[in-house]
Amino acid sequence: MVRQLSFTTLCFFINIYLIKAMPKKILITRVIPNIAYELLTEAGFEVIVWQGDEPMNQRKLIEQAKSVNALLSLGSNNLNQIFFDECAHLDVIAQFAVGYDNIDVTAATDAGIPVSNTPDVLSEATADVAFGLMIAVSRKMFYLHKTIGQGQWKKFEPLKNLGIELSGKTLGIFGMGRIGMVMAQRCQGAYKMNVIYHNRSRNEEAENLFGARYVSFEELLSESDVLSVHSVLSAETRGIFNKESFSKMKRNAIFINTSRGGVHNEEDLTEALRTKTIWGTGLDVTNPEPMLPSNPLLSMPNAAVLPHIGSATEEARYGMARLAAENIIEFYTHGKMITCVNPEALSILKDK
Ligand code: DGY
Repeated sequence: MVRQLSFTTLCFFINIYLIKAMPKKILITRVIPNIAYELLTEAGFEVIVWQGDEPMNQRKLIEQAKSVNALLSLGSNNLNQIFFDECAHLDVIAQFAVGYDNIDVTAATDAGIPVSNTPDVLSEATADVAFGLMIAVSRKMFYLHKTIGQGQWKKFEPLKNLGIELSGKTLGIFGMGRIGMVMAQRCQGAYKMNVIYHNRSRNEEAENLFGARYVSFEELLSESDVLSVHSVLSAETRGIFNKESFSKMKRNAIFINTSRGGVHNEEDLTEALRTKTIWGTGLDVTNPEPMLPSNPLLSMPNAAVLPHIGSATEEARYGMARLAAENIIEFYTHGKMITCVNPEALSILKDK
């Protein structure tokens, strides 16, 4: 019987047996949708869920991580070189987010720890927020909503509260990945917008589907009526939208950021709005986070700010929890991950 089984199938059953016989301990670093806990416990893991309302500080996280085999972590956990120096024993890390700029992936790879993220499952939700912010800014909706409560709605104003329309305008996407593609699809469907994009590499699918035109960063700045940021935060993109960039944008341009606040310089952005260098901004991510209640952007007519809710739908958060758990299960049963960001660590592991 055993001789008839393929080597891979045999390994699979041995791994399942080992998980059940000597359960691996998984730490989930915040309370997330229960599906992650259910899948992991059903697969035979011992699961510890950190119950705190706040993310653990680094000392606490290191202390907790020392007694487990794997982490299901969140973007609020700082997994830097110090963390990996102390926690190189971890087998695997599954991040409950698509972004993983909180993780020093090079340090993880050096420690032979594969890391996964949660792409796709949150693309629709995040693009909805970018799309919604674009409309809200173009009509000053957040600001005008507040003025009603302040008793400022007295009469019809023919020349006040005027917004700008979006039909046929040019949408510039900075970072044409999965979320950028959904944003482009929304904007083309609703407003027949022309799509241009700037990316590390060409995205042929976007070019075929939306007629998207690849442009230089300078062209993206000067041609976009709406410039929507969907890139990762990296050494190359940190602070790339600064005074100089805003000064090259159209005076009626709208700047949207739903990726990471670190991609824009917030003081420069505030100044660009104050001096009417650009028309407006819609932000789901700020720099720093959380934004202080006294931030001037919160009272500007042409700014709309949300508290980093891009992936905050029932469906997306469920999908993120599920995918993160499945990555851990896949790692322990097949030595692979569904959405690994450092696959080279998987091969390092085999050589361990
Ligand atoms: C992500 O997945 O990166 C979102 O920002 C949610 O944290």
